[in-house]
Amino acid sequence: MAVGVFDSGLGGLTVLDAVAARLPEVPFVYFGDNAHAPYGVRDADDVYNLTCAACERLFDAGCNLIILACNTASAVALRRMQESWVPEGKRVLGVFVPLIEALTERQWGDNSPPREVAVKHVALFATPATVASRAFQRELAFRAIGVDVEAQACGGVVDAIEEGDMILAEALVRSHVEALKRKMPTPDAAMLGCTHYPLVKQVFQDALGPDVT
Ligand code: DGL
Repeated sequence: MAVGVFDSGLGGLTVLDAVAARLPEVPFVYFGDNAHAPYGVRDADDVYNLTCAACERLFDAGCNLIILACNTASAVALRRMQESWVPEGKRVLGVFVPLIEALTERQWGDNSPPREVAVKHVALFATPATVASRAFQRELAFRAIGVDVEAQACGGVVDAIEEGDMILAEALVRSHVEALKRKMPTPDAAMLGCTHYPLVKQVFQDALGPDVT
């Protein structure tokens, strides 16, 4: 049975690469909704409707399990889908759970009270829709205490990458990191909360400095 991997466009290939490397024996079907990308500037209903339609396509292609590689869909649409839409016998998972598991060093099913974690100051870089959803802060608050999250909406970066304009993408990343640092001068860790950002990870790292994980 193939596993579906969905993204609003090409960026989710970074996630497909990562999961395919971990699970080489699993067949994957990738669907990128380039016709409607970017999702990161759309409203919640729009993201929800487009993500449901994309999942229908992957169900029709024989996938019973779908991974929403798209952070925007995971943050904005997934909870609503799981509560009221995902058909019986099918599963749709997102990227926020593993992100928060990694940050808090605990499994999702661990329902013990929130506790202190190693990182105290976290910079979240994401699309405007993901930042506006506050999904990351909400899920984190159930599991960790004392973590200060500063979110930076990185307008323009996805479009520049999709258009292949890496000079513009890199300039925008540097300016978004500067904007973040004005709000949080010394983050311990940075979350690249968008499928496309691993493609410019080194630019984030250089702008943030070597001490930021
Ligand atoms: N795939 C989206 C995400 O990870 C970024 C691209 C978009 O805005 O559609 O948030």
